[in-house]
Amino acid sequence: MSVPHSIRTWLTERLGVRYPIIQAPMAGGPTTAELVAAVGNAGALGSLGLAYAEPAAMRAQVEAVRALTPAPIHINLFVENAPAPPSTSQMRAALAALEPMYAALGIAAPRQTDAPFAPDLDAQVQAAIALRPAVLSTHFRQLTAGTIAELRARNILVAACATNLAEARHVESLGVDFIIAQGAEAGGHRGTFIGAAEDSMIGTMALVRTLVRECSLPVVAAGGIMDGAGLAAALALGACAVQMGTAFLPVEESGASEAHKQALFERTDAGTTITRAFSGRPARGIRNAFIERAATEHFPLLPFPIQNKATAPLRAAAAKQGNADFLSLWAGQGYTLARRMRAADLVRTLAEEYDEASQALLRAMRG
Ligand SMILES: Cc1cc2nc3c(=O)[nH]c(=O)nc-3n(C[C@H](O)[C@H](O)[C@H](O)COP(=O)(O)O)c2cc1C
Repeated sequence: MSVPHSIRTWLTERLGVRYPIIQAPMAGGPTTAELVAAVGNAGALGSLGLAYAEPAAMRAQVEAVRALTPAPIHINLFVENAPAPPSTSQMRAALAALEPMYAALGIAAPRQTDAPFAPDLDAQVQAAIALRPAVLSTHFRQLTAGTIAELRARNILVAACATNLAEARHVESLGVDFIIAQGAEAGGHRGTFIGAAEDSMIGTMALVRTLVRECSLPVVAAGGIMDGAGLAAALALGACAVQMGTAFLPVEESGASEAHKQALFERTDAGTTITRAFSGRPARGIRNAFIERAATEHFPLLPFPIQNKATAPLRAAAAKQGNADFLSLWAGQGYTLARRMRAADLVRTLAEEYDEASQALLRAMRG
């Protein structure tokens, strides 16, 4: 099997990378400098999930990647309105609901969750402008058209996530360079910002094809793409690249906790579901005790990102104890197809499988 020399699309031409494969940004640990650099050195686009990083940490992480590779870097931020501060009784009820889970791990639940709940977005954007990544993408809401123009004027490609056609049209009107079409299969947080997340559970195939047909911008397919056949299918639908999160979670260089990695292979019957219970925003992960409990009982939640901060010590303790019952096991619907290998081997394997899938299609067409 010969690895294709390169797979040329709009995105590979713009970035000068060999393969139209983006390792998804994954905030909160998985996207280490080693992972991003290994992906870049292998000819795909490596991404840092910097949503929860203060400007100093953003700089440190980008510099750490740049020390390991000259490849282009993609960084990702969350854009969300500041939530209304919860009342004392709302805060107490939400923290009380978490107490049994904290107790199961042998630690005390926080008595209070105080601001700041997330880094200041303006400061993050200024840091991003100074760092000049090849690509800056946003999840959830959008930067202003002015900020997008400022980033683009500095040669930074700007991308935004869309989970439905209205969102894609909106981000197109703001002047971004390309759209990341996040299908219902996708692991991690839903990007939905127009309408209810429940109404935007559109499969990757239908969403990508709709956005390719209805929008004039290049479209990246995200959600459920786990191998080279998925890459070939996405390109056949008209996507200019794929963004893959779950497939990169268990690779050696990923900073996901070992319990999270193991869950991909051990909890094969559990399936995934959408929950707001970890962060206050809907996200897809493997079912576990935490999700079940939050779904069955009256379970008061704080808004994103306050709930995220309220569960942070729980998730940190669970990771330390290797207890997957209380971790946010973010994963897409295709997680049972995940493979443990080095990141560069995964990129090479994806290219080989793409080649194989394309040949099989050609053979099928010829009869
Ligand atoms: C563990 C995990 C963390 C994620 N974190 C982010 C993030 O910080 N920013 C973002 O834009 N998308 C994030 N995503 C979503 C990905 O960008 C992408 O939509 C998704 O991984 C595609 O589906 P797949 O997981 O089936 O490949 C995350 C996904 C996973 C699995």
